[in-house]
Amino acid sequence: MTRKSTCSGPPPATATQTLRAAFSGPPEAFIAHFVASVETDRHLLEADLRGSAAHVAMLEACGVLSAEQAARLLAGLEQIRAEGLTLDPAYEDVHMNVERRLEELIGPEAHLLHTARSRNDQVALDLRLYVRDCETKLRVALAELTTALATQAEACADVVMPGYTHLQRAQPVSFAHVLLAYHAALTRDAERLRQPLISPLGACALAGTAVPINPQLTAQLLGADGVFTNALDAVTDRDFAAAFVFACALLAVHLSQLAETLILWCSQEFNFIRLPDELTTGSSVMPQKKNPDCLELVRGRAGQCIGELVNLLTTLKGLPVGYNRDLQETKPPVVRVADTTLASINVCTLAVQRMTVQREVLRQAAADERLYATDLVEKLVAQGVPFRTAYAIIGNLVRHGVPFSQVPTNEWAALGLRVTPETFTPEQSIASRVSHGGTAPARVAEQLTIARAVHREDVS
Ligand code: ARG
Repeated sequence: MTRKSTCSGPPPATATQTLRAAFSGPPEAFIAHFVASVETDRHLLEADLRGSAAHVAMLEACGVLSAEQAARLLAGLEQIRAEGLTLDPAYEDVHMNVERRLEELIGPEAHLLHTARSRNDQVALDLRLYVRDCETKLRVALAELTTALATQAEACADVVMPGYTHLQRAQPVSFAHVLLAYHAALTRDAERLRQPLISPLGACALAGTAVPINPQLTAQLLGADGVFTNALDAVTDRDFAAAFVFACALLAVHLSQLAETLILWCSQEFNFIRLPDELTTGSSVMPQKKNPDCLELVRGRAGQCIGELVNLLTTLKGLPVGYNRDLQETKPPVVRVADTTLASINVCTLAVQRMTVQREVLRQAAADERLYATDLVEKLVAQGVPFRTAYAIIGNLVRHGVPFSQVPTNEWAALGLRVTPETFTPEQSIASRVSHGGTAPARVAEQLTIARAVHREDVS
């Protein structure tokens, strides 16, 4: 009796059959739908094609593919890029969809594409490339927001206002000083959105391969900053995704703080700024209302971003090393957070660019005499009075409700102070705060120069 050889069957005809060559039949329809990731993967098509093209070029350079084979594969990939591709959930993910389409375009030669790589490598690379693109987009948008802040700061160089701590009036500051505080925080955010790109392509699922490949070359062709050191780590590592979502969450927190400040400032109680009609929303009941809904949503959506960070970290926690399908769930948080953060930045940019600064209201608020208590303390310190003693002397006046401007000149003189009505002007007070990073005009001008330089560097 002759035994039929099990090793000489025909090659599988399609990409999906390739995936299930060892299976007795197709998956249960619901299961196929349940495991598919095409909904998120449509954002990764471009990255997937870039990765595949670099992989083909590397295989050719290593002599694994002939020049003709590589050319046909590359032409097919290029055609998919040019035409676009609607991902079919029946083919699970972007990787299998591309392979299937390539097969349609160039025939069975498409099966060569997956030599010496795995979908585990591919998805790790695609998400890294996607994150890199998002970082660039977010930094460009942030540069517009920080430019808007710097431009307003410049235009408002002479605008004064009360500075707050605990949301209580504290000391006079320049309006520019406050805007530049937000500029500084957002500049740190931009810095955090700059991660090295490490290529995981060539990890070959977990253990490397016997095929003579050159993952360093693939990394180089992709313009990556480096290549993985351990194949198993390459497919497990989602640190970059966590770092990205964290950077976005913290950025969203800063945007929510800026939004809250603008919301307060445009309330009737503060009336420090006005928002134009086109950035406000009406009430269905009260015709007079002009609500800062867009800023409220910036404030509110920071919650989503923080939630996605927790989502992502919780997905990663406790995973055994190596690719696990749980990692598929790290993609949606990245996509959602990137979209939300970008939109929130753009709202803030419009608000900062178009707000009207109520200079006179701000000046009036800064005229509150109690804001000058620290100036008086510092004048005493300059006379050699120990700080705590000076603090007690001025605190005593406050306790007895004595307005500073009504203390007779001779009583100030007895303390060695020359106090004039100018002492209680915001300009005088602000001009005195000359220490590093202070609100004095010269210090604010320095901050502005730094702000402009950071911006030039980031967009170049
Ligand atoms: N679709 C998967 C994801 O999005 C990538 C492929 C996973 N690899 C595997 N052997 N199931 O993460």
